[in-house]
Amino acid sequence: MLELEIIDLIIRRGESTVVGKLNLKVTKGERVGVFGANGSGKTTLLDAICRQVHFSAGKIYWQGRPLANMSTVQVARLGVARSFQFPQILPNLTVLENLISANTPISKDGIFRALFFRSPPEAEPRSQAYLARCGLGIYARDLAGTLSFGQRRLLEIGCVLARRPQLVLLDEPSAGLSDEAKRHVSSAIGEMTMKRVPMIIVEHDLNFLAQHCDVIYQLEDGQLVKQQGY
Ligand SMILES: Nc1ncnc2c1ncn2[C@@H]1O[C@H](COP(=O)(O)OP(=O)(O)OP(=O)(O)O)[C@@H](O)[C@H]1O
Ligand SMILES: [Mg+2]
Repeated sequence: MLELEIIDLIIRRGESTVVGKLNLKVTKGERVGVFGANGSGKTTLLDAICRQVHFSAGKIYWQGRPLANMSTVQVARLGVARSFQFPQILPNLTVLENLISANTPISKDGIFRALFFRSPPEAEPRSQAYLARCGLGIYARDLAGTLSFGQRRLLEIGCVLARRPQLVLLDEPSAGLSDEAKRHVSSAIGEMTMKRVPMIIVEHDLNFLAQHCDVIYQLEDGQLVKQQGY
């Protein structure tokens, strides 16, 4: 079943065309890997799906709905969850509070309202369980801003899991991680695979993509080129 469809997507940034007439179809449970040189537009592609960048032309459909006129929050409410190349956690909240905010339905006012006014009582034990799965259980009461880069990445991926997403976009999920931390990321991907959540994973590490993806594309000159043998 077709879940995500990108048709003739064009994104210009300044004078240059970063993404040019790009097409992609992602089916239920499919894990798509994308690699490419620095600056080839991998992050921009994820930004476009999340409506974090304006696209100049083309269409993106998620479960048949066009995303072009939606806000970032609206797309998140449809079940699209992402992690960033540079983890975007809430540094002034505790590690556990970050998880609770992810574990709470996103209201139209965004996650802050959800965190401070509407987090259900069962959110805390559930969030503790997600933290343990990321190997961050002992840091629950620490401010997230005190975590190392690798721990922030794990926290963000834990938050993605906690959202019980329907589409997951991971931007360089293994970059800068120890082998042990990479194993936590792998098991998070494994958990989403079991749930048949479609994923787009952007990486420079081809081995990591080969391990976790059903199909791999190279982003080159604004186009996705399917890699044979994957
Ligand atoms: N906010 C922005 N404003 C203008 N140009 C931008 C912006 N963000 C990215 N770009 C440009 O868009 C192009 C694609 O950038 P993008 O970050 O998507 O590449 P990438 O493939 O993710 O690279 P990397 O592997 O280094 O993360 C680059 O030429 C970059 O300079
Ligand atoms: Mg990038």
